[in-house]
Amino acid sequence: MVGPALDPARIPRHVAVVMDGNGRWAQQRGLRRTEGHAAGEKALFDTVEGAIDAGVRWFTVYAFSTENWRRPPDEVRYLMGFNKGILERHAEDLHARDVRIDFAGRRDWRVPRGVLRRMDWAADLTRHNSGMTLTIAFNYGGRAEIVDAVRGLVAEGVPADKVDEKAIRRHLYHPEMPDPDLMIRTSGEFRISNFLLWELAYSEIVFLDVLWPDFRREHLFDAIREYQARERRFGGVGSP
Ligand code: IPE
Ligand code: IPE
Ligand code: MG
Repeated sequence: MVGPALDPARIPRHVAVVMDGNGRWAQQRGLRRTEGHAAGEKALFDTVEGAIDAGVRWFTVYAFSTENWRRPPDEVRYLMGFNKGILERHAEDLHARDVRIDFAGRRDWRVPRGVLRRMDWAADLTRHNSGMTLTIAFNYGGRAEIVDAVRGLVAEGVPADKVDEKAIRRHLYHPEMPDPDLMIRTSGEFRISNFLLWELAYSEIVFLDVLWPDFRREHLFDAIREYQARERRFGGVGSP
């Protein structure tokens, strides 16, 4: 796992992570799926610390998708309480580290009021921090985000010929957030699963075999090294 040092001049500004594989991690150990989610907490905060140390400015994690409501009610209930607990256990530490906590997703009737209150509390507590921004994608769907952006445009009465990429971006959940430079998905699945559909247009994607509860900052550094070895062309022809 130890490789060459990271190039400090080419640290991705924004890293987004699909934290996947908790259920399989638990299953391999004869545990309940929810115990896999619990084990993911250590992975998350070790990785957040690593991202801060590496100088990543924006770090976004996929915690609950708009499709995850399809899971058994017990697991959904667990995940709601777990995500609230994560904020209770870590928001103050993150605040001390100058991290700004933010959320992306729909605040619909399915999200328990107590969870929304905790989210607002964590966001308010850390609102003025100027270190890394940790965005938690919660009840988030990439298609829902685009639908919500279009609704915003229509509600504003924007005429058709004024709808362009800039106008859509203005209505995304976080227009100020730069697009991810690097997206990491764990667990060996090769798909996006409705994460940041608009924003990932030109992100470098690294798929890793490790299950999320086993993920540590060294895996993040490995992914950043892989990112640094790639050439981004954005549709052009690249350097000669
Ligand atoms: C990711 O792990 C966590 C969430 C989706 C909330 P999974 O629960 O999807 O784990 P697998 O993919 O079933 O192993
Ligand atoms: C994506 O993982 C969502 C999160 C990590 C929160 P899923 O496990 O829900 O995705 P699929 O079902 O394998 O595509
Ligand atoms: Mg999964």
